[in-house]
Amino acid sequence: MIKDSLKIAVIGGGSSYTPELIEGLIEHYHEFPVKDLYLVDVEQGKEKLEIIGSLSRRMVERAGVPIRIHTTLDRKKAIKNANFVTTQIRVGQLEARSRDERIPLRYGCIGQETTGAGGFAKGLRTIPVILDICRDIEQLAPQAFLINFTNPAGMVTEAVLKYSDVRSIGLCNLPIGTKMQVAKIMDVDVSKVNIEIVGINHLNWAYNIQVNGIDVTWEVIEKFSKSRGLTVKNVPDLGWEPGFLESLGMLPCSYLRYYYLKDKMLEEQLQTLKTKGTRADTVKKVESELFELYKDPDLDIKPPQLEQRGGAYYSEAAINLMTSIYNNKRDIQAVNVKNNGIIPCLPHDASIEVNCVIGSDGASPVQLTQSVSPKVKGLLQVVKAYEELSVEAAVKGDYDCALHALTIHPLVGSSSVAKKILDDILEENKEYLPQFYS
Ligand code: G6P
Repeated sequence: MIKDSLKIAVIGGGSSYTPELIEGLIEHYHEFPVKDLYLVDVEQGKEKLEIIGSLSRRMVERAGVPIRIHTTLDRKKAIKNANFVTTQIRVGQLEARSRDERIPLRYGCIGQETTGAGGFAKGLRTIPVILDICRDIEQLAPQAFLINFTNPAGMVTEAVLKYSDVRSIGLCNLPIGTKMQVAKIMDVDVSKVNIEIVGINHLNWAYNIQVNGIDVTWEVIEKFSKSRGLTVKNVPDLGWEPGFLESLGMLPCSYLRYYYLKDKMLEEQLQTLKTKGTRADTVKKVESELFELYKDPDLDIKPPQLEQRGGAYYSEAAINLMTSIYNNKRDIQAVNVKNNGIIPCLPHDASIEVNCVIGSDGASPVQLTQSVSPKVKGLLQVVKAYEELSVEAAVKGDYDCALHALTIHPLVGSSSVAKKILDDILEENKEYLPQFYS
């Protein structure tokens, strides 16, 4: 990479999360000297993009770092010769997310942005757009790394791996959040913590937890068992059944509550729906408050209110990843990459979320130190099969693949319910799913 012309294109630059990224770029400027940062958005996001662009300029000015911030609706211009392209898009905006969260609930199923039928709908809308972005990268910046945060991140990563030549890595804030929460509960600095992650995005388990090189997995499990377990702002942190974590012997990520505590989580969602609406409704309110703050010409830092969102530490994860690639650090980070046999019970070309060595050649997964326990294997395989079918449905507009994806999903689990949900999704997302209507 040429050291004095580092260029990043952020697709979906008008996102309320962008100030997180700017803060990270400022903090790491000494080792990751970005020269040009292009924030790109679509016509509907123009106003937000300008607000974010102005705030970003104020932030870099205050920090005294010479990052040039560009805002544009011209995606190709932004991507051309970029070293990194990051994607944080929401096809259909929060309105579509709200529908994704409501439709499954009508039929007694969990309604969640990334998990189950809600995540499936988001995947159908998002994958073709991401593949379109990939076509631009192939043509205009073939050496670039695509860092995708767009949900459902595992499914999107798999689609990119299967249907493009782009060098890509899928990124989520959960692994870094896990490390931070372990550090907190053990009362040590996060740099002393090492954790192995096995699974796929939003369906993974942490084990071989070490502090200062000593295995403390059992101590950590006991401590979490007495509190609530791993948490994240957007997933209700219902406590695990007594003894459950100990019997599992691993720490499940927060999203596994939708599977292991399905009934309670569903009840919680139905109650919340009556009082506060869906998570998308809450996020809409938080977003409009945030954008009011962002407009303030005196604001030149990331406001703490952004922490109400679920994506905490997202910027840290992103900057760590890009900095390690840029400086060939060869450190360990958990990201989404091609399986290539690392998890033997999953297909070779599946995307998985595991520890990887990060260097100038990208992310190379490291061998697991334990074989995958039968306690998690079946769930992992069935959700991966659902993802495979969903990717195929999204790319080809194939109704049968879509129906079978939903039918086998553990949070749907019946062909008649799957059909009703699918038909509602297709009907209510018509404008975003041309692949099913041509
Ligand atoms: C978590 C997930 C992210 C997701 C976010 C949603 O942190 O790991 O993938 O985007 O929550 O948060 P929100 O505030 O939009 O509900």
